[in-house]
Amino acid sequence: MYLHKELETLTRTQIENLQLERLKKTVRQCMNSPFYKKRFDDLHLKPEDIRSLDDLYKIPFTTKQDLRDNYPFGLSTVPMEKVVRLHSSSGTTGTPTVILHTQRDLDEWANAVARCLYMVGLRAGDIFQNSSGYGMFTGGLGFQYGAERLGMLTVPAAAGNTKRQIKFITDFGTTALHAIPSYAGRLYEVMAEMGIDPRRDTKLKTLIIGAEPHSEEQRKRIEDMLGVKAYNSFGMSEMCGPGVAFECTEQNGLHIWEDYYIVEIVDPETLEPVPEGEIGELVLTTLSREAMPLLRYRTRDLTRILPGECPCRRHHKRLDRMKGRSDDMMILKGVNIFPIQIENILMQFEELGNDYLITLTNEEANDLMTVEVELKEFVDDYPRLQTLTKEIVRRLKDEILITPVVKLLPKGVIPKQEGKAVRVKDLRKTLI
Ligand code: COA
Ligand code: AMP
Ligand code: ZN
Repeated sequence: MYLHKELETLTRTQIENLQLERLKKTVRQCMNSPFYKKRFDDLHLKPEDIRSLDDLYKIPFTTKQDLRDNYPFGLSTVPMEKVVRLHSSSGTTGTPTVILHTQRDLDEWANAVARCLYMVGLRAGDIFQNSSGYGMFTGGLGFQYGAERLGMLTVPAAAGNTKRQIKFITDFGTTALHAIPSYAGRLYEVMAEMGIDPRRDTKLKTLIIGAEPHSEEQRKRIEDMLGVKAYNSFGMSEMCGPGVAFECTEQNGLHIWEDYYIVEIVDPETLEPVPEGEIGELVLTTLSREAMPLLRYRTRDLTRILPGECPCRRHHKRLDRMKGRSDDMMILKGVNIFPIQIENILMQFEELGNDYLITLTNEEANDLMTVEVELKEFVDDYPRLQTLTKEIVRRLKDEILITPVVKLLPKGVIPKQEGKAVRVKDLRKTLI
């Protein structure tokens, strides 16, 4: 049962009082982790020094690198027998990151997602289909438990197999669907091929879109194509997954649930707060996590806090749609990829030189990654080149989860750059 209706509509004073109470508790909890204990000790900082929300600024930032350095369980603040699930980022070449959850963490996460879905009018009686990857992708289990908590009939269709996905939509009378924006375009294309008119032949009315950047224009097109209302959903694995910030029916920014998170927007260079309403990097502090609370976590996502009140009368602040990243992470098909992951794999092949270029395109609704890489020496043995290419594709797919196109090039073909080489060209256009 969804129990959090009253938390959706707290006043600013109530939100801030609750935040302070929860921040103090979170900081005390963090002292159970050797990582945070050392951080505080090094600065001669004690949990008692956090007396107001402004005292948050005394605490250093936490970064993805900290998570990597303490992989896998170094940031745990509870005995491991209390941890019931973990989610891990992809990748085998660099150190992945891990997020740990107690049962209470999972319950709170489900409540947060349920709150988002409730906010856009979904209720028991709705049929909710989820086209996210399950397993380690938090959009799978995250939406699953949130939708079940509201009592909806859920269809865990998972990613891929678009024709089957569409059959579920028509056969089960799916009313609400979670899909990344580019995949919403793919669904529409395949529906058209199958002679299905989404307005006439489906009961779809609500689409939840997130996990990758998209524009207002893209949202409108998705709404027009599928005859739905589409709501932007923002989250990340480090903050559980979906359920961090979500649009209300006004569709004018994403309410961030401040009873769960303290929001800061900082300049990614100076790490100082940006003036109100300006774009900077989103920094989040968790307020209700048991197994792995995070203090002042640098998300690397660029956004701003929208000024003014929302007509819906929820007082939780609103984030603007994401404007990009302050690092080199790419998102393809809803999968996060760092160029270094690709480089690490390529460098394991002794036949390959040091120069490579990653090009991102989107011919149809699907993203495509092409990896061009120079051979160390001239090879004119075609079957050998074919086998090598296949092996590189296979190893890259294991690492980054999506299937790239690999092209082997003679030495010296990739233009050399002055200074830092440009390794990634993102030529993706807004298609939908
Ligand atoms: N969601 C749902 N389906 C997706 C998808 C996505 N983000 N990205 C691709 N697909 C579909 C494709 O349309 C294709 O199905 P179809 O041919 O029946 O239309 C199928 O998955 C395979 O995709 P393809 O692009 O051919 O393969 P790939 O090896 O490059 O990609 C996936 C592999 C699909 C497994 C990988 O992209 C994936 O798991 N994506 C989902 C990530 C996700 O859920 N992110 C959300 C986190 S909240
Ligand atoms: P993951 O940890 O795999 O869930 O990926 C989280 C990242 O996906 C975020 O840090 C963002 O960069 C991106 N992301 C998630 N939701 C959105 C959204 N609604 N709009 C833009 N980017 C998003
Ligand atoms: Zn609102």
